[in-house]
Amino acid sequence: MFENRVPPEQDKILRLMGMFAADPRTDKVDLGVGVYRSPEGKTPVMAAVKTAEQWIWEAQETKGYVGLSGDPAFLDAMRGLILGDAVPAARVAACGTPGGTGAVRQVLEMSRRLSPDAAVWISDPTWPNHPAIIGHLAQKSATYRYYDRETGGIDRDGMLADLARAQAGDVILLHACCHNPTGADLTPDDWREIAAICQRTGAIPFVDMAYLGFAESLEADAEGTRHLAATLPEVFIAASCSKNFGLYRERAGVVLVVTAEGAPREVAFGTLANLNRQNYAFPPDHGARVVETILNDPILRDSWRDELRAMRETMQANRAALAEALRAEAGSDRFGHFAAHRGMFSLSGASPAQVDLLRETHGIYLVGDGRMNVAGLTPGTIPRVAKALAEVLA
Ligand code: LMR
Repeated sequence: MFENRVPPEQDKILRLMGMFAADPRTDKVDLGVGVYRSPEGKTPVMAAVKTAEQWIWEAQETKGYVGLSGDPAFLDAMRGLILGDAVPAARVAACGTPGGTGAVRQVLEMSRRLSPDAAVWISDPTWPNHPAIIGHLAQKSATYRYYDRETGGIDRDGMLADLARAQAGDVILLHACCHNPTGADLTPDDWREIAAICQRTGAIPFVDMAYLGFAESLEADAEGTRHLAATLPEVFIAASCSKNFGLYRERAGVVLVVTAEGAPREVAFGTLANLNRQNYAFPPDHGARVVETILNDPILRDSWRDELRAMRETMQANRAALAEALRAEAGSDRFGHFAAHRGMFSLSGASPAQVDLLRETHGIYLVGDGRMNVAGLTPGTIPRVAKALAEVLA
């Protein structure tokens, strides 16, 4: 079976992780994969997570199966965190998944099963695994304009003109906040326009929420998604607990499907549970249980919110410091948008050749499209990174 075959091309983000690990230079800087680092360069286990794990360890008496859709208390806590009271709980079908990527995969597979001819609209650019999964599922896809490389902001007119061409039943994939890879987010006004387009065309929004709490606040980051849920009959949401709970390797994620009023949510619920069964049976439990324990305990929840705020402030401080250092190095404000972007990522503007040069000559690792993880910077590395960027991109 394997003779005369070549292995599939590796995901560019994961390939870069391997290259970084193999690089013997001690002053190398990893701005590749989206992992948060503290000013000390660590990816810590959050204090609330440690406490929740301790409680679970003490109280848990079985590792027996939970259910195909995961722990109902986790699903309900995540529904509350993400949707608040934007839509009645009775309209939401939820399902646990292995991380946010598992949730993205299950939503896309559900939409292919129920609506095989629908196209999935993705932003230009988007997270490389979006088109990869869509391609794997052999779904139809279309691209909408999103990022304006001249301004470092959103090409609003282009985006809205493209989305207006969506057909009824098409799926419009949106990033809730902290757009990956650009860092340029939709404004409340953009969300309202997109909701109106969905209303007009009958297209269904699908929100990928990987970074809730990393942009402005837990509430502000969910606002656009809540607006869609409050105004449209159907909305798909794939949420991750990897970043905001620091639970990367535990694979805790959730699908929420807002179903039309009066429509049976059992169809969405049953389809998702069935897809779980086909693909991996039960979703992982440990990370989900940690999240549920934190969200349902007022003291742990406050502690987690505080720590999340500190992470967000670190990323914003990195952004401000990098933009400032680049202003000094480049003698211009051409990198000023780094400070305005939100979340972990910004597009640096480096070409693939410049990305290679940054890595080979300076030991600075960016993804090939020039994406830079600003959460990987520390006060110690910012001056060097700014100098190298200004030099290579001059
Ligand atoms: C990223 O974009 O770097 C993260 O979401 C990690 C991943 O799985 O690609």
